[in-house]
Amino acid sequence: MQEKRVGILGLGKKLGSKVLTNKDLEKIVDTSDEWIQTRTGIKERRILDKGESAATLASAAAKEALENAGVKAEEIDLVVVTTITPEQPLPATAAFVQREIHADKAGAFDLVVACPGFVYALTVLSPLISIGKYKYILVVSCDTLSTITDWEDRGTCVLFADGAGAAVLGEVPAPRGILQSAIHNDPYNIELLEIPGGGSRRPYSHEVIDNKEHFVKMRGNELFKVAVKSMTDVSLEVLEKAGWTIDDVDLLVPHQANIRITDAVATRLKVDKEKAVISITYMGNNSSATIPATLYDIQKEGRLKENDIVLCTTFGSGVAYGALLIQW
Ligand code: ACO
Repeated sequence: MQEKRVGILGLGKKLGSKVLTNKDLEKIVDTSDEWIQTRTGIKERRILDKGESAATLASAAAKEALENAGVKAEEIDLVVVTTITPEQPLPATAAFVQREIHADKAGAFDLVVACPGFVYALTVLSPLISIGKYKYILVVSCDTLSTITDWEDRGTCVLFADGAGAAVLGEVPAPRGILQSAIHNDPYNIELLEIPGGGSRRPYSHEVIDNKEHFVKMRGNELFKVAVKSMTDVSLEVLEKAGWTIDDVDLLVPHQANIRITDAVATRLKVDKEKAVISITYMGNNSSATIPATLYDIQKEGRLKENDIVLCTTFGSGVAYGALLIQW
């Protein structure tokens, strides 16, 4: 039996409704608009407003993706949410999304891989469609990093944002679809980006809270170098596996962690700068949502067209990293 081609049938996006500018941050920590723009590329970011949470963003993005795909919620076989900031510790955020959209026949679970969640999800889930086990899978990548940010730490609070990007996966006609993908993890660099408290090793306690162990701890400088190398290496890996070269790529859609990381990856890959998509300027870093939300934006702008070859590359806590090569 011939395996089916699997691709993205429709995308949705919902960012936090509250706009937080660099000028706003100047009032919170010792920083400046000039420093943030030069060192990160970010002009403003979106965070949760009152009444919003992971499930409200994820559900809104999911509904839009279903509409754009022309797929009904009851046709969905699996609802998978990638998040490190769930609606609540139990149950999975996917259960809240499933209830809100009425995907009543679906299985539902969360995938915890930090920023590479979307690339990990498409890599492990798309074969389930290609072998015919499932017809439609809804992937929602949703992170609300403002809820795990130490707002007194200028090294992290200027970077992070809240948002959701959703994609309906299903069969697409050849030659379109996911051409290649790769996922990896480097566990020897776990300490570069972690939340040490609030788990079984350091359960919540007054001490954990007082030490701020329940917030993101990041060694940004060291992580920067690991990010550039891992995103470049895994991009070359998928290109080689697919038998393509970087010249075949129409758009590079990297995880939006820092504009200088994107520039360095584009330089190492020798990809034209204008092919590298930048959304961090207006969106900040909303973790696993950056790639689907960016795909959504460039499709809406008409920059992403049918049959384009798109290379998505990502990294995050773990240190997990991965890449996807898609013919749109
Ligand atoms: N405003 C002003 N000054 C600052 C700020 C700030 N917001 N943050 C740090 N500084 C200062 C530092 O204290 C330091 O001062 P010092 O020289 O007096 O000690 C100086 O700026 C330089 O600090 P560096 O850490 O060397 O700055 P760098 O150029 O490396 O930029 C940054 C820091 C932006 C964090 C960068 O390292 C980075 O982007 N790293 C990657 C981080 C990342 O990708 N994280 C997310 C990945 S996972 C996910 O997406 C959830």
